[in-house]
Amino acid sequence: MNRCLLPENSRLLLYGDLQGDPELREEIATYLHQIRGVRCSSEQIIIGAGTYHSLDLLFQLLKRDVSCMAVEKSVNNGVKALLEQFRFDLHPLHLESDGIRIEEVYNSKAQAVYVTPSHQFPFGMTLSVNKRIKLLNWAKEHNAYIIENDYDGEFRYNGRPIPSLQSLDNDERVVYVGTFSKVLTPSFRISYLVLPHTLLEQFRLGRHSYDQLASPIFQKTLQLFMQSGDFERHMRKMRSLYHKKHDILLQAIRHVFQDINIDIIGTGSGLHILLRVRNGMNETQLVQTAKQKGVIVYPTSIYTLKQELTATPTVLLGFGGLSEMDIRTGIELLNKAWSAE
Ligand SMILES: Cc1ncc(COP(=O)(O)O)c(C=O)c1O
Repeated sequence: MNRCLLPENSRLLLYGDLQGDPELREEIATYLHQIRGVRCSSEQIIIGAGTYHSLDLLFQLLKRDVSCMAVEKSVNNGVKALLEQFRFDLHPLHLESDGIRIEEVYNSKAQAVYVTPSHQFPFGMTLSVNKRIKLLNWAKEHNAYIIENDYDGEFRYNGRPIPSLQSLDNDERVVYVGTFSKVLTPSFRISYLVLPHTLLEQFRLGRHSYDQLASPIFQKTLQLFMQSGDFERHMRKMRSLYHKKHDILLQAIRHVFQDINIDIIGTGSGLHILLRVRNGMNETQLVQTAKQKGVIVYPTSIYTLKQELTATPTVLLGFGGLSEMDIRTGIELLNKAWSAE
């Protein structure tokens, strides 16, 4: 018996549209406008198979015009590997409590800048509106690009939402990069770029070099999930759940760490916070003593572009996947791990 599992248009299902499922791109354009004020048509969206794939596509596009890139001085490992692979001349930017130093961007020879403005990875600060406007002015004056990786911009718990750089951009200078890894699950491997029109034109001209790697079947599944309204309900639920976990974590830290000198940083958004710990241990000791008690915290020095000694050891704590009980117990255990015997 000749049984066909795929419908007749299976060629389309296998390869899909090079920019991604058109209906999914419509859903994403509407979603980004609602949640981050992004102004774009679905035509400007390119679906990718995770942020690194999206950035790979973008760097291929930028390589012609960009040789020097100004980059936050600490970046996620995958991004760092890609930047090195493309051999950009990197100009590291120091981080302050309100984000990068704009004068350092002006003092660089960069033709593009890479930022995580909603919740800097790893240090968690938010780029202030004032600095956002200055950065956009720089990009306009220098005909340069801003790569805005908004990877956990959907989760903000306190204060007024800060507009995305893309929503403030009137000069087609910002490339917005996003992922469904935080709002759904990393296993989905679906991300997107929002390209300004000039880059879109180049993407289309060089289309044979840019494969569409995100599974068309997952894309369709996501599109139906978004269209049904279930995605919006899921987002509301997750936002309130993560907000609750975030607050429980902060309360537990303030309550439990009475005898250790600790600063909590990077709070108010995203799915992780950081602890700057002054108990005489270095970063490796903080990570290892925590591990011996069964608690995983992550080092931050590994993310620096150019290795340097950080003044105070700082570790990262994720809370998205933990139960309220895990959070409270984990903080008790950390306190034991880090207190003098
Ligand atoms: C800054 C940043 N962007 C993106 C990602 C992950 O993106 P994806 O799962 O889409 O590859 C991470 C993961 O930690 C990240 O730190």
